[in-house]
Amino acid sequence: MLESVKDFLYWAESLFNKKLVYFGHGFDNAWDEALALVIFVKGVNWDVDESFLTETLNDAEQQQLFDLVQQRVEKRMPIAYLVGEAWFLGLPFSVNREVLIPRSPIAELIDDGFSLWFKGRSPQNILDLCAGSACIGVCCALTFSGAKVDSSDISASALQLAKKNRTTYELEDRLELIQSDLFQNLAGRSYDLIVANPPYVDQVDMDNLPPEYTHEPSMALAAGDDGLDFVKLILAQANDYLNDEGVIIVEVGNSQEAMIAQFPSVPFLWLEFAQGGHGVFALTAQQLKECRKLFVS
Ligand SMILES: C[S@@+](CC[C@H](N)C(=O)[O-])C[C@H]1O[C@@H](n2cnc3c(N)ncnc32)[C@H](O)[C@@H]1O
Repeated sequence: MLESVKDFLYWAESLFNKKLVYFGHGFDNAWDEALALVIFVKGVNWDVDESFLTETLNDAEQQQLFDLVQQRVEKRMPIAYLVGEAWFLGLPFSVNREVLIPRSPIAELIDDGFSLWFKGRSPQNILDLCAGSACIGVCCALTFSGAKVDSSDISASALQLAKKNRTTYELEDRLELIQSDLFQNLAGRSYDLIVANPPYVDQVDMDNLPPEYTHEPSMALAAGDDGLDFVKLILAQANDYLNDEGVIIVEVGNSQEAMIAQFPSVPFLWLEFAQGGHGVFALTAQQLKECRKLFVS
């Protein structure tokens, strides 16, 4: 019988480990995934004290937890979609299956205020390209309180969710949501900082994704044979939207290798992350100006 929170945690932890669920969406262990479920069902906050472990579970709570565990184990549904929430830079974001579950290492750069490029000055205009839940745009707006941020995405349903997150953080006056196929509807705008986490998964990786990832929108992941379909388009056009002293930061994940192989002369600055993650580069507007023609097909 799963009478207490603790009983549930031990049971769910051992089941998640036995069934080899894949941890790639915010949690890296079974205990934390189980904890997220019981915190959701009990409607408490993450900073709940230890006495929570001995709280009892009523019949309805037990049933709800069984159902959620079943979806996690049998359908391989990520916890974030089950509870409708994911954490990014220490903040909760609403998520649903219309958006990628936030996990970009770019969070670390935001936390650091992009200090490599913005020492003694702050970006005034920021573009969060391929925004999904707008986790990056929201965190940029919260970090740079004087900045105007545009979060754009091609998906209307992703933008609907982004709107919810914008409301949560009361950013209606500084964060604009724009439906756009890359730069298509951004004519006339210019930015000090463009941050893009576009789709970048190559075909081999797409074919071998753990089942958890198949619940995410494939339009948020798939980017052609070499994973570079979107990043090449972005780099071919970005100069038209970057101020002279601006910088563009793009995540390409495992497609870093293909990027280096195809563009050996481009001075990408590949960034390092203390908390894990890879495949994020920066180019200044000046650097991009000199090599942009390489990306124009
Ligand atoms: C990897 S997800 C990133 C989401 C979010 N920025 C994050 O870090 O969690 C990529 C996003 O790009 C969007 N996207 C795909 N094709 C696009 C296009 N042609 N123009 C703009 N956005 C696009 C998808 O809808 C998805 O939300």
